[in-house]
Amino acid sequence: MDQITFHHDTVLSDVHMLRPNRRHLMTRLNAAGQPVFISNFQLLSDGERRERGDGGNAVKEAEECEDRKEEEETDGEEGGGGVETLLDEDGDLDITRRVKRNLSESSRDLVCPVILKQSHSVPEEEGEEEGEEEDRCCKGIIKIEHTMATTLEDVGKQVWRGAFLLADFVLSQRLLFSGATVLELGAGTGLTSVVTATTARTVYCTDVGVDLLSMCERNVALNRHLMEPAGGDVTVRQLDWLQHDLCTDTEVEFSWTEKEVADLYDNTSLIIAADVCYDDDLTDGLFRTLYRLCSSFQHTCTIFISLEKRMNFTLRHLDVSCEAYDHFRRCLSQLQDLQDGRCSFTVQQLPVDFSQFLLYERIEHLELWKVTSSPLLDPRATSEASDVSPS
Ligand SMILES: C[S@@+](CC[C@H](N)C(=O)[O-])C[C@H]1O[C@@H](n2cnc3c(N)ncnc32)[C@H](O)[C@@H]1O
Repeated sequence: MDQITFHHDTVLSDVHMLRPNRRHLMTRLNAAGQPVFISNFQLLSDGERRERGDGGNAVKEAEECEDRKEEEETDGEEGGGGVETLLDEDGDLDITRRVKRNLSESSRDLVCPVILKQSHSVPEEEGEEEGEEEDRCCKGIIKIEHTMATTLEDVGKQVWRGAFLLADFVLSQRLLFSGATVLELGAGTGLTSVVTATTARTVYCTDVGVDLLSMCERNVALNRHLMEPAGGDVTVRQLDWLQHDLCTDTEVEFSWTEKEVADLYDNTSLIIAADVCYDDDLTDGLFRTLYRLCSSFQHTCTIFISLEKRMNFTLRHLDVSCEAYDHFRRCLSQLQDLQDGRCSFTVQQLPVDFSQFLLYERIEHLELWKVTSSPLLDPRATSEASDVSPS
């Protein structure tokens, strides 16, 4: 394969677009025949963040610096680096500048995937020495399997910037998440769930589709060493926002056990969701799910939703607009205004000035929202009202 073909409905996450080739490697083809890559995402320790001066910009600069270094090395190899000064025939200074590659070329080279190994093994199954070596250099690295340039139905197989923002938030609020039971909705590759389990006790990492959930489970296995110190665990399960109930059919992969369902309803105090509002029907389903869950939980529950506002030019408005975002905001307002006597919700936008633990560009269009639900009545006493949901 020497060229990737982009179809009109193909989307590629900026997270993958802006990574130079050497940072991800194609490892296998998934059940759907899509190339699967593995990317290493660096998790900065407190010391490393202090060294770099903390803050989003410091991290961005560090990454840019790394990329510049890489570019210079490449230029060096090609013999193109440096500025040559010459005099032209009139005696004027003639400066030959280094040829700047245009943005699309410099930010990401053409992907020419090479299958390194086509196996279903994860590091634990590899040879002991190799595994130990891997362990030593993987302390602060999250390894994530993902695909690239997917259709909209498969966007969960890529990592999105909202996942990084939410992961950063979790790491900056370790005390809040410590020992908690957390539910992630629309978890995709599972990156945020993995990070959350470095402090939470139980993370139910949920999404839809066996192929995606299998990839997610592999990512959990690849990163178990990061969760072990805090004793956290991630359970990958199916939770479809367009279905009324959790699937407990034992014949179905990634279905819930009765024990897990009871644990979820009795103990969940935090729900997280990253970049899950991009289609109005799905957003409606997501909010119905949030309402249903929170009004059945035993506890007050706090929901954190990260998102990236994506501007599009629309013929309808003849201007740039952000329709999916506008719909999300309407759903938030409806939830806040809801008065059904069972549960009340408050909504708050949070500042995104917390520390950055992962390397990505924290662009201004990234937002974080906090929704708090408080049960007004004992949910078991009002189970007959369970069909009520926000429109
Ligand atoms: C843009 S991706 C975000 C993935 C991940 N949270 C991230 O930020 O990298 C949106 C996610 O919503 C999930 N999703 C879409 N429809 C869903 C549904 N009906 N029920 C549950 N999850 C759904 C997708 O499978 C996908 O993983």
